[in-house]
Amino acid sequence: MARHGIFAIRDVGSLVGETATEGTQLKRAVGTTQLTAMGVGAIIGTGIFVVIGEGASIAGPAVILSFVLAAVACAFSALSYAELASSIPVSGSAYTYAYATLGELVAWIIGWDLILEYGVSVAAIAVGWGGNLNAFLDAAFGFALPDAISAPPEEGGVVNLPAALIVLAITFLLVRGVTESVKANLVMVVIKLAVLVFFIVVAFANFGTGNFTPFAPEGVDGITSAAAIIFFAYIGFDAVSTGSEEAKNPARDLPVAILGSLAICTVFYVLTVVGAIGIASPAQMSDSDAPLAAALDQGAGLNWAAAILALGAVVAITSVVLVIFYGQTRIFFAMCRDGLLPRRLAAVNQRYGTPARLTVVLGLLIAVLAALVPLGTIVELVNIGTLFAFVLVNIGVIVLRRTRPDMPRPYRVPWSPVLPLLGVAFAVYLMTDLPLDTWLRFMLWMAAGLLIYFLYGYRHSRLR
Ligand code: ALA
Repeated sequence: MARHGIFAIRDVGSLVGETATEGTQLKRAVGTTQLTAMGVGAIIGTGIFVVIGEGASIAGPAVILSFVLAAVACAFSALSYAELASSIPVSGSAYTYAYATLGELVAWIIGWDLILEYGVSVAAIAVGWGGNLNAFLDAAFGFALPDAISAPPEEGGVVNLPAALIVLAITFLLVRGVTESVKANLVMVVIKLAVLVFFIVVAFANFGTGNFTPFAPEGVDGITSAAAIIFFAYIGFDAVSTGSEEAKNPARDLPVAILGSLAICTVFYVLTVVGAIGIASPAQMSDSDAPLAAALDQGAGLNWAAAILALGAVVAITSVVLVIFYGQTRIFFAMCRDGLLPRRLAAVNQRYGTPARLTVVLGLLIAVLAALVPLGTIVELVNIGTLFAFVLVNIGVIVLRRTRPDMPRPYRVPWSPVLPLLGVAFAVYLMTDLPLDTWLRFMLWMAAGLLIYFLYGYRHSRLR
């Protein structure tokens, strides 16, 4: 160990070796198709089914370009994630990569930051799930749950019951085991792609060009601001890397799954958003909690299609809750194992081979959040946290190339450091487009994290 204190660095060899220590070993049970499905499962959800409406209200029809811009921004970071995931195939994603490259303090900062991208966003995603459930009940049966049990206090309700219940159901699934979970995920991914194909086909069959003008009412600013919001729709390709330790062949499978899932989703998103503008005005979409269903219903006048779509969205978002929650448990698992959080939490359940205790604790906390927190501002907070993680991951690639030039890298980002630096630039660019109060909340969150590190993690770290 060359460095000490808050800059102590974990050795990559020991990180990989440690995955085999008794009592904290996860099952290597997941292959390429399943990993790519995990990526798609994590990506396509509340973003495309719900947040698209806000994007359209900010950028107008040019939200199409916002989707392209956000995809390009993600692509550079995806390359960096692919390199790190293939070279350091252990649980914990960006958190672990930082521990091996930038030192303990930065690792903690990322781990704490990732709670925004994973834990907090699970709550927001679950809220989107509840909203689509209501949209389905309304479109199919003309009946919707009352606000009191389907909305948080800030939006005129008392408790968001559907959102809390879906979180608890997924908690149960994750405790039972990752093999069962990825199988359930595969089925949901097939359904969600079918639902988007259904939307695209119906939209293009009813396509008109009337909604495309004026194309960019808010100009370039509108396009970039909307990109910073709908960026949420792309979050999740990096979730593949949180499950590295359960991959059968991480060196090959992880880059393919990370880049493949992002590419697949980009194609689907661009077709979906072009189709949506082809049948509905941005105003029709942004007025609804379920904008794609609204596009079919109010835009194209197809109530039956809206019912099918809303039901599909419920299934689609279920798999997002599953994979993002799964990612959060694996990041926490790594942080506990390193002693930065209580180690006892990381115990692997003998019967199921999963970190059951930690999963239940997280599930309860997230369910409470989901029951009480509205979707809107959470999305911005999740985005700023995720973009910040992207910045650090890209820097991690550059640093590791210098400090560990000989380390085996099954996958290498081409033209490093140019592409990782572009990844940093795009992420910072989108961050600066988020509102000031998002920045303030973000800084408060990070300050709380630093406090916890110096009060607990610094003293209990296994490196010490
Ligand atoms: N990208 C994920 C979603 O759209 C987080 O729900």
